[in-house]
Amino acid sequence: MIDARLEIIEERLKRIKRIVAVSSGKGGVGKSMVSATMAMALSKKYKVGLLDLDFYGPSTHIIMNAGDKPAEKNGLIPPLVENIKFMSIIYFTEDKAAPLKGKDIINAIIELLAITIWDELDFLIIDMPPGMGEEVMAILKFMKEAEFIVVTTPSILSWETVKKLLLFLKNNRCKILGIVENMVMEHSIKNEIEKFGRYLGAIKFDASIEKFIGNANKIMESDFGKDVEKIAMKI
Ligand SMILES: Nc1ncnc2c1ncn2[C@@H]1O[C@H](COP(=O)(O)OP(=O)(O)O)[C@@H](O)[C@H]1O
Ligand SMILES: [Mg+2]
Repeated sequence: MIDARLEIIEERLKRIKRIVAVSSGKGGVGKSMVSATMAMALSKKYKVGLLDLDFYGPSTHIIMNAGDKPAEKNGLIPPLVENIKFMSIIYFTEDKAAPLKGKDIINAIIELLAITIWDELDFLIIDMPPGMGEEVMAILKFMKEAEFIVVTTPSILSWETVKKLLLFLKNNRCKILGIVENMVMEHSIKNEIEKFGRYLGAIKFDASIEKFIGNANKIMESDFGKDVEKIAMKI
C-alpha cells in the first residue's frame, strides 16, 4: 500500500529540479515568512512552487493572499499566486473543526503529495511542520531528495531546539543547505551557528513586516524581503 503511493509521489515530483524544505525546531521563528518570501524571490528568475505542509499553523496562504482553490483535473492543479504554483494542507483541513491527529495528518500529507500536479519546476519550497515528529519522518520518507534550510532566531530557546533538529536531519542522511538566523537585533549568534553548519545569512528584525502580510510586493520591497532575497540567491 505505502509503496504504491511512494511510486505515485515519485512520479509527481520527478520534474522538480530542487525541493527545498524550510524547517525549524519550534513555531514562531519566521519559518512561514521565510518560505513564502524565498519562493517569491526565486520566482523572479525561476519556475517555483510553494507547498505548505505545516498543518499545525498553515500560514503561507495568508502571507501570499492566496484566493483560488486548486482545480481538479486528474489530480489537483495548484493555482498561480504571484506567479508561484501554490498548494497548502489548508485545502484539506479547513472544513474540519478538530485538528487532525497522527495517522490522519500523515495520510493527508501523502494524499496531497500524490494528487498535486506540479509539472515542471526549478524549485519547490516547502513550509515544513516544526520539530521532528512522525509527520516530519513521513515527509522525509516520501521526499528523499529534499534539501533543508533550518530557521532559528538568536534566542537560545530557538537555537537549542534547532541543534537537535540538525542532528536529527544528519542522522536521517538529509542534505542541509544551511541555517538562517531570523529576527536579528543587536545580538547575533552567527559564530555559534557556524560551529554547526553553513550560515546562510541574517534577517534583521523588521517591525514593519506585520502590516505587509498579504501584500507580496510590499514584502519584497521591505528590509525583510531584501534580507531573504540575498539568502535565496545563495542556495
Ligand atoms: N524578521 C522579522 N522581523 C519581524 N517580525 C518577524 C520576522 N520574521 C517573522 N516575523 C513575525 O513573527 C511571527 C511568526 O512568523 P511565522 O513566519 O508565522 O513563524 P513560523 O512559521 O515559524 O511559526 C509573524 O507574526 C511574523 O510576522
Ligand atoms: Mg508557520
